Amino acid sequence: GITRHYKFNIELKNVTRLCHTKSIVSVNGQFPGPRIVAREGDRLLIKVVNHVKNNISIHWHGIRQLQTGWADGPAYVTQCPIQTGQSYVYNYSITGQRGTLFWHAHISWIRATIYGPIVILPKRGVPYPFTKPYKEVPIIFGEWFNADPEAVISQALQTGGGPNVSDAYTINGLPGPLYNCSAKDTFKLKVEPGKTYLLRLINAAMNDELFFSIANHTLKVVEADAIYVKPFDTDTILIAPGQTTNVLLKTKPHFPNATFFMTARPYATGLGTFDNSTVAAILEYEFPSKLSPHSTLPMKKLQLFKPILPALNDTSFATKFSNKLRSLASTQFPANVPQKVDKRFFFTIGLGTSPCTHNQTCQGPNGTMFAASVNNISFALPRTALLQAHFSGQSNGVYSPKFPTSPLIPFNYTGAPPNNTMVTNGTKVAVLPFNTSVELVLQDTSILGAESHPLHLHGFNFFVVGQGFGNFDPNKDPANFNLVDPVERNTVGVPSGGWVAIRFLADNPGVWFMHCHLEVHTSWGLRMAWVVLDGKLPNQKLLPPPADLPKC
Ligand code: C2O
Repeated sequence: GITRHYKFNIELKNVTRLCHTKSIVSVNGQFPGPRIVAREGDRLLIKVVNHVKNNISIHWHGIRQLQTGWADGPAYVTQCPIQTGQSYVYNYSITGQRGTLFWHAHISWIRATIYGPIVILPKRGVPYPFTKPYKEVPIIFGEWFNADPEAVISQALQTGGGPNVSDAYTINGLPGPLYNCSAKDTFKLKVEPGKTYLLRLINAAMNDELFFSIANHTLKVVEADAIYVKPFDTDTILIAPGQTTNVLLKTKPHFPNATFFMTARPYATGLGTFDNSTVAAILEYEFPSKLSPHSTLPMKKLQLFKPILPALNDTSFATKFSNKLRSLASTQFPANVPQKVDKRFFFTIGLGTSPCTHNQTCQGPNGTMFAASVNNISFALPRTALLQAHFSGQSNGVYSPKFPTSPLIPFNYTGAPPNNTMVTNGTKVAVLPFNTSVELVLQDTSILGAESHPLHLHGFNFFVVGQGFGNFDPNKDPANFNLVDPVERNTVGVPSGGWVAIRFLADNPGVWFMHCHLEVHTSWGLRMAWVVLDGKLPNQKLLPPPADLPKC
């Protein structure tokens, strides 16, 4: 591989959407941010220079970061933030991965405007295991807030209530024609007839899983979270924040007298923070350029087709869609599913409450404050980075290594809310010896309404070996686990009112964050960290920190 250099200047930029102009935190004045393109095996050196007042850190979502945890990015987990006027070079290699990922800020809600695609091409000369696309197009979903997203979350945390919802969903930064004052801000995908396009779909939205569809066209799913999957056809994609999905779009063989909408809107269950509106972009056929300039385009107005998306709470679609995702599990791309398990964990995840910390009534349930937890622990970020504390052997006073392997409040989902919805605050991590084979069951508590949580694990891919509804049964459910071709990914939607089982091999030393990728749930504490100890061999050890690692 080669070394590729990028420079990210974090700077303010005036941007207008929905007739509302505001100053946003941007990378190089671009919104969405620049695209990173590399090949499998390359090294990336990305110098981030902070010219704004906010603290900054950037996460390369889905990159394995083998031995290079210092470059992972979550603030107060692997690094202290980059302060005003400071810079930091993120230095890492792309090993054994190819496909679509993305990068985003990983501190507070800054990622609302700081995000962009990562395109990892296969090694030179290595073909895709599917039809070679004529063109490749990143499609990145986001959310636009007329307000400052930092003000939105700080207000929510102070009042204990839910944050204000965004004002629009966006495709490549543009809300599209279904919003007021937005028709000119519409993404147009221009295509030629009879060609295959690779769409690299990325959900960088803050708080919503999304359905996505293109009118009158079928999509072939070929990859999820930068791992090839068994191809399947579908009209609609479900994609959670933190997930990426590559699809092939085969255009119609002849020029159609039509324009087609591509639309996305939320899949939301329970107490999700969502608006129910729709972002639209346009698929526009271009007359093939090689035809004679005298051939005339149809003069009559083109017909407009709109896709029909599943209902807001269509959990049955969500279940069917996730069941279709399977690893390719071929000779060239085997599914290395851990067959034996060294350590089992059962984590309840979901919303809860914490006592009101000020004199007025708080805006959460029954005058409390909203909180969220893993095994009833609402994770508090430390003042210094966990990874530094771990590496220097000075974890005392920073974190406790005793994360519970099962819930503090025994879990039994009956459909009725339990009496005790309170969470406990703490900075606890789960410690794993190098190469531990982990099985983790994530159970939605449904305490404040059944809800799907897209759980994201840093530093690893995991295999989704099972899922179901209601209570996970440790005596019965494992018999049905798929240990042959389960999908391998870095973010999984825990079924609303149900559970998911994942397996991963802890072969990457460092400190690795795991959290719900609905940003408000992360802010409320639905997060924890794994500490993976060094192995014996040199290539099984975390490398020392770079000299420019930011200080707190
Ligand atoms: Cu994409 Cu910890 O996040």
